[in-house]
Amino acid sequence: MKFMIFASGNGSNVEAIVAAYLNHEIPGELVGILCDQPNAFVIERAKKYDVPYFVVPRLVNESKQAHEARINQILQHKQVNFIFLAGYMRIIGPTLLEDYLGRIVNLHPSLLPKYPGKQAIQDAFSDQATETGITIHYVDEGIDTGPIISQTKLAVLPDESLADLTERIHKIEHRDYPRVIANILGGRE
Ligand code: GAR
Repeated sequence: MKFMIFASGNGSNVEAIVAAYLNHEIPGELVGILCDQPNAFVIERAKKYDVPYFVVPRLVNESKQAHEARINQILQHKQVNFIFLAGYMRIIGPTLLEDYLGRIVNLHPSLLPKYPGKQAIQDAFSDQATETGITIHYVDEGIDTGPIISQTKLAVLPDESLADLTERIHKIEHRDYPRVIANILGGRE
């Protein structure tokens, strides 16, 4: 199974996945990292690990469909079977879903269906939630909907700062996402 990781920003989860892959904990073949933000730090991480990367920003006046069609060309060329979103901050549209429904997985930093969207950790924190967590799920046409593969809960500690909560959520993500990816590519999910 060939897989690609999509990211838009810092890429700490990409690094966790790549490290597990290089440590032979994830089967299949990592064919690259796709990033839609030319200045994202994840590109430095790709270079550091010598993983091929593809920078595909959405151009001015480019439709979502045309952008995704360009991404899809790369996926077809590289014969990608699975896509793992790791901090990829775009909604996946029909152009990619048509070819990859059931083969795109997303990582989200809340217990979905609670706190969908781009600021889930902040939203849970501002809401004074006593518990939050992470969700790993298949992507469908909705925003952070789609069949759930795994969830991990985390108590929000009294007097904890947003930065501390964010760090604890990231730690769980770095531990759980590579394992779930290994299970999916190993045919166990
Ligand atoms: C992660 O916490 C991930 O769950 C979240 O973005 C962060 C990326 O961090 N994704 C979403 O919010 C998707 N809606 P990273 O770039 O350091 O991996």
